[in-house]
Amino acid sequence: MYVVTMASQKGGAGKSTLSILLAAMFAHANLRCVLVDCDAGQHTVMAWAAQRPGREPAVLAVEGSAALEAACVEAGRRRADFCLVDTPAGIADVTTAAVARSDLVLIPTKCDVTDRWAVRNTVSTVARTGRRFLVVPTEVPARRLGLEASDLRRLRHDLADIEAHVWTGQISERRVISYDLAEGRVPSETDWRGPTNQECVALWRRMMEILQAGRPLTAGA
Ligand SMILES: Nc1ncnc2c1ncn2[C@@H]1O[C@H](COP(=O)(O)OP(=O)(O)O)[C@@H](O)[C@H]1O
Ligand SMILES: [Mg+2]
Repeated sequence: MYVVTMASQKGGAGKSTLSILLAAMFAHANLRCVLVDCDAGQHTVMAWAAQRPGREPAVLAVEGSAALEAACVEAGRRRADFCLVDTPAGIADVTTAAVARSDLVLIPTKCDVTDRWAVRNTVSTVARTGRRFLVVPTEVPARRLGLEASDLRRLRHDLADIEAHVWTGQISERRVISYDLAEGRVPSETDWRGPTNQECVALWRRMMEILQAGRPLTAGA
């Protein structure tokens, strides 16, 4: 089982949205996934799950690092392929614990100037732990004529020194994500061939490259 944590000190960076997009896509692709909601203040993931018919992906709400550890053990007991962990903004103890437990940390960030200023702090905090991490540009204006939005190009420029840790793709800004989440769904389920799912699949591939380079997933691991 791989533990993947979404972390960003800035609120509204897209942590909860990304965790839901990935977890539901994994479930749709028949990967076993447990989605752990550590954000006791918002519980965005639980609110989404409450709208959702069916029981996949399994969703667990936890408060505090001891409960997080128990949730990871439970995910392992359920033979999950992935345990995805959504965390609150700021530097909560539970986020520190989740990062320490992770095979990979995804750092979602939007690309506006305040987001670009903020992301460096999260990168530095996570990099100090020695965990593998990947910055994931989110809610980015869709590419036009094959060109990336100027704010994303600025983000890449700002993070040029850690280029290898910045995903070359993007999760684009699309209202359909919000409409689907409101109904307890994700775009992968409503439109597998659609652009949002293509981006999610591309991210999943990149995640697997990083994860398998570090620790190949073997049966029962
Ligand atoms: N790709 C996207 N397209 C459109 N809206 C998005 C996208 N990603 C995130 N959002 C919106 O941004 C806001 C913050 O996202 P959220 O996932 O709650 O951030 P966080 O969990 O980091 O606080 C929400 O209103 C969400 O709908
Ligand atoms: Mg959130």
